[in-house]
Amino acid sequence: MKITVIGAGNVGATAAQRLAEKELANEVILVDVVEGLPQGKGLDMYESAPVEDFDTRVIGTNSYAETANSDIILITAGIARKPGMSRDDLQKTNADIVKSCAEQAVAKSPQAIIVVVSNPLDVMTYVAMKVSGFERHRVIGMAGVLDSARFRTFIAMEMNVSVEDVSAFVLGGHGDSMVPLPRYSTIGGIPLPDLLDQATIDRLVKRTRDGGIEIVNFLKTGSAYYAPSSSAVQMIESIVKNKKRILPCSVWLKGEYGLSDVFAGVPVKLGKNGMEEIIQIKLTGDEQAALNKSAADVKASIAKLSL
Ligand code: NAI
Ligand code: 2OP
Repeated sequence: MKITVIGAGNVGATAAQRLAEKELANEVILVDVVEGLPQGKGLDMYESAPVEDFDTRVIGTNSYAETANSDIILITAGIARKPGMSRDDLQKTNADIVKSCAEQAVAKSPQAIIVVVSNPLDVMTYVAMKVSGFERHRVIGMAGVLDSARFRTFIAMEMNVSVEDVSAFVLGGHGDSMVPLPRYSTIGGIPLPDLLDQATIDRLVKRTRDGGIEIVNFLKTGSAYYAPSSSAVQMIESIVKNKKRILPCSVWLKGEYGLSDVFAGVPVKLGKNGMEEIIQIKLTGDEQAALNKSAADVKASIAKLSL
């Protein structure tokens, strides 16, 4: 197993470290355009192997030669948000970056599965699919796992319970119109609406929607990366180990949930072939309307691209 991580910034480097510490590959190749950055971080990470007891070789590089025959390509390259910026403000710059990264990476690894993190997430996943020419099951965007993890955290904080007993689902695009689903969120198996009043649920949903900017406003110079890297690695783990976990991921829809020709977050079975199935759940009228709106926002952004 060989995994290439493109972008040795906050998300990419932390993801590479997590992949190595979990021994999800024999080799993790860390690529960045900045000279010395991936080499330095890669070597530093590998030097932690004797202490942390992992056998994954981490190699940093500025060239794609070392990435040849990767099984998975994780794209985290691009600029991140600063206070006052929306994810959409990143679109033009990051589309050029993701296009260039995907082109170079797939030329060396035509059989790989691509996981995209760069923002705006659903649009960048579209860029990677378009540029690679890969079938939809091999190009998957990470957002729903992160947004659901945030929702789970806020629910656990509110109830003062273990996060382990909280499950939650967030669908739709990774933007302000994302769709947290309280009905499908549970504490110890009990649906959220049975334990919390509507005003509290609404507050937690809002905090989840604003979860990204909450961290940006604290950090001021960049955006979140601990939870985002964990989320991407959880998706990769399900693929590498063929676990067939059901995780909310951004995938290209062809009629599922009544939506077509758009990337949006839906529950997906992740296994060795990438996206192996889209799980369709019955939504209420309001939930479907919110998903439609979120998908329409992504479609409008995709329409602005010139690839
Ligand atoms: P960062 O600024 O720390 O790292 C980005 C790295 O990309 C830098 O090291 C930069 O040199 C590199 N880069 C730029 N152009 C490149 C190219 N052509 N080839 C290779 N590397 C290149 O940013 P961070 O925090 O790691 O975020 C990365 C991206 O992920 C951002 O677009 C951010 O908005 C997005 N993100 C998405 C999340 C999601 O839920 N989908 C969550 C967190 C971040
Ligand atoms: C986040 O949600 C920036 O999209 C990133 O933290």
